[in-house]
Amino acid sequence: MIIAIDGPAASGKGTIARRLAAHYRLPHLDTGLLYRAVGAKALAHHVNFEDPAALAALAGVLDPAALDPEALKSGAIGEAASRVAAVPQVRAKLLTLQQDFARQPGGAVLDGRDIGTVIAPDAEVKLFVTATPEARAARRHHELLGRGEEVALEAVLADILKRDERDSGRASAPLARAADAEILDNTGLDVEQSWQAALALVERRR
Ligand code: C5P
Repeated sequence: MIIAIDGPAASGKGTIARRLAAHYRLPHLDTGLLYRAVGAKALAHHVNFEDPAALAALAGVLDPAALDPEALKSGAIGEAASRVAAVPQVRAKLLTLQQDFARQPGGAVLDGRDIGTVIAPDAEVKLFVTATPEARAARRHHELLGRGEEVALEAVLADILKRDERDSGRASAPLARAADAEILDNTGLDVEQSWQAALALVERRR
């Protein structure tokens, strides 16, 4: 069983994906980490964000087993990730790796922006997890403060709106709901309620 989870930034799709993977004992890939790793490398090595070939070269030498989620969580890296993710050459480099992960025997859970549409269009179960920008900004703000990143709620909301626009508006594999994806709008739901709703949708589909 392949479970494809897509949705915008701070929609809670990562938590849902992790919990589904544990529940069904499936391997899980947070595909945002791949783009974050490329973005982080580009920042660290001062690679020009306007240079698709240089960015694609960074994506080509990525070791998915060596990704450290904690080191890649910052807002600056998220922003860099969203910029490199708009580059078709970068997406092309990361495609096979994600498709191989999805197709392993026994199945897998993948979360990102284009799993149900591009990476695994034939997934048995697809969820599109979303919430209003305000709800997502409040969550991300809370999370950042918890990590000691002092930032205003308005700035977080502005960042989320910018990221939504870039992720949905890009030409290459934009954030989009697959026609056969179930929508889970978890505005107003807490983590537990969102998880229960997701599980119910998956159980109905599988
Ligand atoms: O989900 P996360 O915030 O970690 O993703 C970081 C960025 O990576 C997103 O803003 C998006 O631009 C990009 N991304 C993508 N396709 C995916 C996963 C993430 O374009 N499948």
